Amino acid sequence: MERLPGFRDFYPEPLPHPDVWSADARQYIFDQWRTVAKRYGFREYDGPPLEPLELFTTKSGEEIVGQLYNFKDKGDREISLRPEMTPTLARMVAAHERNYKKPIKWFAIPQLFRYERQQKGRLREHFQFNADLIGETDPAADAELIALLIDTLRGFGLTEADFVIRLSSRNAWQDFFKHGGGDHAHEYEFFQIIDKLERTPPAETEKKLSALGFSLANVTQFIEAGRPTAELENILQNLAARGLKDFIKVDYQVIRGLAYYTGVVFEAFDRKGEFRAIAGGGRYNNLVKLISGGKVGLAALGFGMGDVVLLELLKARGLLPKFDSPMDVFVLIEDEALRPISLRLVHDLRAAGYAVEYPLTPAKPDKQFKRAQELKVAYTARLENDAYVRIRNSKTRDEIVTGLSGAANHLG
Ligand code: HAM
Repeated sequence: MERLPGFRDFYPEPLPHPDVWSADARQYIFDQWRTVAKRYGFREYDGPPLEPLELFTTKSGEEIVGQLYNFKDKGDREISLRPEMTPTLARMVAAHERNYKKPIKWFAIPQLFRYERQQKGRLREHFQFNADLIGETDPAADAELIALLIDTLRGFGLTEADFVIRLSSRNAWQDFFKHGGGDHAHEYEFFQIIDKLERTPPAETEKKLSALGFSLANVTQFIEAGRPTAELENILQNLAARGLKDFIKVDYQVIRGLAYYTGVVFEAFDRKGEFRAIAGGGRYNNLVKLISGGKVGLAALGFGMGDVVLLELLKARGLLPKFDSPMDVFVLIEDEALRPISLRLVHDLRAAGYAVEYPLTPAKPDKQFKRAQELKVAYTARLENDAYVRIRNSKTRDEIVTGLSGAANHLG
């Protein structure tokens, strides 16, 4: 049986094949995400992987709606696997925001599902670190969130030479569209054209733009001038004060595909431009209101960072640590008569917090010793009789014989 295209199996290291996904690398990424999020005062939340279809058709925009894994369940409900976390977050916040002090700073690491055309950096399932800040309109919140994004990537050993945050603003584009005589009804269509600029042949873009009364030359000029709005200037200064200026660049080519963004938007890219976006986010000040049917109005912003591109980048830059998980102790059972008491020792050491291995079935002493070496144990332990145990430090080769109950005291 083959697995579905675009889905992954995660194996423990050492990996059987270089193309296989590593469960250890995934855990390493999750741990890093959690560590930095907590350092910034974000709390973890989660929601269901299945949601009513309507939650995503309301406001995510065409692109994601076209990629939904949706179906009818046995209760005849129209449902969908979640393609992103933001609508779920908006629903959760709207339901219980009164119980939380503002601004709300929450993070999650959901697995998301999108029926995408498979390509480098894009699969049909991925894990995404989401960090969102709700209930604050000041650009100080935007700067705080972008600082978190930068520090998350720096936590993996990436530097300003490896990645850049391209900062932009839908407000700036809204002004451009309005001043150019654009019809408000076609604004999102215009944003979609800008979003796809880098990936579309110029002639095709020109045709689409002129249908809305714009020209590629004007659009290019606006992007090249890259004049920061007052809001962006504020964010740049805030980040400069933290010493993060070199990680960020104003780039109006970024506008984001999702429909709900209202103001500042940004994406993280590798400097060499070899990979797809590492992360993307922005302000969505109307989404909570929309999802709560007008009941709760709260400004919000956030970003999502996927595990797929991030892992490709870390691999390419040689930044993944070696994943072996050494055990603390191997209990050698050379005399089967001592197995019951050896099991007791194994159990007591585990209860004391040590990672302990032992031969499940009778095995030759040299085989046991080899296994202990493969596991890179710090100590081996062997019962001398039913009262004493010999503990050997693998590195120093020092040996000590001690009473059974005191064994744990001789482990580092
Ligand atoms: P997004 O730009 O659709 O934003 O996704 C964010 C990141 O998730 C991308 O930059 C990429 O790293 C990863 N990603 C997206 N699709 C795939 C895929 N098919 N395969 C692998 N990785 C993928 C959002 O999802 C927004 N909800 C983020 C957000 C949170 N905005 C505000 N708060």
